[in-house]
Amino acid sequence: MFENKSGILLIGGLGFFLFAFVSNALVPILMYRHLPEKTAEQLVTQNVLYQFEDLRLRYPEQFEKYVGEANEQNAADMLRLGRRVYVGEACWHCHSQFVRPVSNESRRWGPVSETPEYQNELQRPVLFGTRRVGPDLSREGGRRGNDWHTVHFFNPSSVSTGSPMPKYPWFFDGSPDKPNKRGLALILYVQWLGSWLDSYPMYEKYVPINESMSNPLE
Ligand code: HEC
Repeated sequence: MFENKSGILLIGGLGFFLFAFVSNALVPILMYRHLPEKTAEQLVTQNVLYQFEDLRLRYPEQFEKYVGEANEQNAADMLRLGRRVYVGEACWHCHSQFVRPVSNESRRWGPVSETPEYQNELQRPVLFGTRRVGPDLSREGGRRGNDWHTVHFFNPSSVSTGSPMPKYPWFFDGSPDKPNKRGLALILYVQWLGSWLDSYPMYEKYVPINESMSNPLE
């Protein structure tokens, strides 16, 4: 078998396959098997509730119609729906959800991703993505207000000049101030990304749209 090159290549190829399988599959499984997988309900932190309440205040009629109360169970259900919309609309085709420990990515997008962050229901399967036409979204939560997201989904280039991101008018009942159930769910999902980190940036930037609105956490 070792008289010719192909025999050596075969052994080498199988060897590397085995090495990759052990290091990328078996080692992580053994390292993290004691961590229980979190459910969507357990992922509804104060940050998520804050955004949920903010959506209720900004779009009261739409929220009432499609969601009802801004409680924890509804937030968990909307996160599940938001994730399904994200998958169904193939957002992962242009956006990754993984800050890699290379190329100073953390300077652009925040803390490098860690394995335990993916140990939950909303990461099954993980949405690492295939390429980056748009920015990585794993720390998107709290970077932008909900009103920015509605306008952006309705027509990306109106807030981001020259954006190649498609318009998503089917997340709305007509105009950008009328997000429907899928629209509200997707925005909550996007605001959830990174909500488990201490660096979640929303609170300092709260901008009420009218006098009757105050920071829902105060
Ligand atoms: C054709 C590729 C493409 C697709 C599909 C796409 N995006 Fe984008 N997205 C982009 C690009 C490019 C940008 C950067 C320019 C901009 O802000 O519009 C962007 C920006 C964003 C931003 C703003 C990031 C920030 O803070 O600057 C969010 C949030 C976002 N996309 C979410 C989504 C979601 C959710 C979907 C699926 C409904 C989606 N995108 C589909 C290309 C895409």
